[in-house]
Amino acid sequence: MCGIIGYIGDRDISSVLLVGLERLSYRGYDSSGIAVISSNELSIWKKAGKIQELSRILSGMTIHSNIGIGHTRWATHGVPNDINSHPHLDSSKKFCIVHNGIIENYLELKNELINDGVLFRSQTDTEVISHLISKYYTDSVEEAFQKTIQRLKGSFALSLISEYLPDQILFVRKGSPLIVGLGKNENFISSDINAILNHTKEVIYLEDGHYGSLSQTSLTVFSEKGKKVTPKISSINWNPEDSEKQPYDHYMLKEIHEQPHVVRKIISKYVSNDNKINFTHLNGLDLSNISRFIIQACGTSWHAGLIGKYLIEQYANVVAEVDISSEFRYRRMISHGNDVVLAISQSGETADTLAGIHEAKSHFFPVLSFVNVKNSTIDRESDGVVYSHSGQEIGVASTKNFTAQLTSIYLFSIFLARVKNVMTPEEADKHLNELKKIPEYIENILNQAEKFKKLADKYYLSNQILFIGRGMNYPSSLEGALKLKEISYIHATGYAAGELKHGPIALIDSKLPVVCIAPDTSTYDKMLSNIQEVKSRKGKTIIIATEGNKEIKQYADDIIYIPKTTEDLTPLLVSIPLQLFSYYVALNLDCDVDQPRNLAKSVTVE
Ligand code: G6P
Repeated sequence: MCGIIGYIGDRDISSVLLVGLERLSYRGYDSSGIAVISSNELSIWKKAGKIQELSRILSGMTIHSNIGIGHTRWATHGVPNDINSHPHLDSSKKFCIVHNGIIENYLELKNELINDGVLFRSQTDTEVISHLISKYYTDSVEEAFQKTIQRLKGSFALSLISEYLPDQILFVRKGSPLIVGLGKNENFISSDINAILNHTKEVIYLEDGHYGSLSQTSLTVFSEKGKKVTPKISSINWNPEDSEKQPYDHYMLKEIHEQPHVVRKIISKYVSNDNKINFTHLNGLDLSNISRFIIQACGTSWHAGLIGKYLIEQYANVVAEVDISSEFRYRRMISHGNDVVLAISQSGETADTLAGIHEAKSHFFPVLSFVNVKNSTIDRESDGVVYSHSGQEIGVASTKNFTAQLTSIYLFSIFLARVKNVMTPEEADKHLNELKKIPEYIENILNQAEKFKKLADKYYLSNQILFIGRGMNYPSSLEGALKLKEISYIHATGYAAGELKHGPIALIDSKLPVVCIAPDTSTYDKMLSNIQEVKSRKGKTIIIATEGNKEIKQYADDIIYIPKTTEDLTPLLVSIPLQLFSYYVALNLDCDVDQPRNLAKSVTVE
């Protein structure tokens, strides 16, 4: 959460910082700000609202400077207003800070500083940092910075510029991501590569606890213990064009349409022509004797984990428990021996999932992670990794990465079943051959956009919508409801259809639309009974069924057909209409589809 950018070089500083912030804005978009040093003087511009608000106050200005930092905020401490926006200064206005993360002991530090006579301007935790640096400063900014970071508890990534050190950016990474971008006679600091990909592909992923300084031509990095280190330089092969949304109106729509390609890509990465599955980053994790997976994840990734449970148990005959990371991390961890903790994360930076990994490791559980972003913290801290290969996902509501997670978990479950010798090669072939048809099936659903628009036109004024499903499509109902509420702000709940009669049935009246996920599966008949329970209470049924099912039509106010596939692959198809329905409902309501209010794509605070 929150995005940090810093630049030192000869390019037009405001454009580097603003474009960088724009690209980081998926990390938070409550307010933004930049600070530069020119003619040895610090100047700051900051503004509540999206980056465009900041751009507006900067338009027409020419800023002559070759060093600056910027920030896009997801508010934690203090409302999103101009004063609470970053950068933050000390009282002497000589030290200027941008911060991502949370300073957990800020109240204690704030009281100490107030006792010293410091006047605070903002309600943020960040402001204590600039005042502390000022307190510790005698004649070396580096020393003051170092003393300050030793006093901070919590997770943070920081960048500092100071009039007393006008040719350097100081930085530290502790629990929140930060990278250095290396250029020719210029250098960058950023929360992630998106912000600097246009300028350089040579980056350093800073290790946790590492801090240092960056000048136009040099970089110095120290370990947490203060030892000088030589960081590893990585070359990035991402294409900056991946970050463009053309020809689509929104990233979300673009990403929905990329799903057939994503499934094909994952198959080509992991499955050979003769249907052998190979994961190259398991790093020797012994899966043959595994007796239990503990899956932990957040948000959409948690839903993928819930579906993963069904697949792993069904194919590989291994128990799989699923937990929300923010719950898992505080639960007593009981090891039964051959357990593996399986983390799922698109960004690879989610604070709760990462903390779950740390807890698991401290109890000696091996950790296998399903991650999309290579070199992310979760990628680097896991024992084994399966990459989701969905490419860059920019829309805050996850779509193509959910599909990618499901596809890779599906492949992993078959792989595990083969390793454990509980699935024959012929059965594996059958599953894989069916998976290979999925991209075409998704294309078929995507071609019916008009239908989803009409459906959205009919239901977008609903106050709430219920989603129900069974078996593997119970998590699909949770994901459908999450998508809708994330981007349209309509209250939506997903329920296991069998639970309907234990409470939510009380909600049903003639005004309540109920999305009933009822493809041909082993629980279809049960689902049909649940749909009738809805109908007989006058609920409006929007049914997702398998092509060719005429019987179910009589119970449907509206019906969406998906191509016929095996039960285990239905969640991959069901999610597409749910995504498109949410998208068009949100459009009708004039919502900001790609950057819904209050959300951020990468949640790096607890
Ligand atoms: C945020 C995003 C969700 C995402 C969740 C978990 O809440 O808005 O779309 O599912 O984080 O993120 P992760 O990167 O760990 O999958």
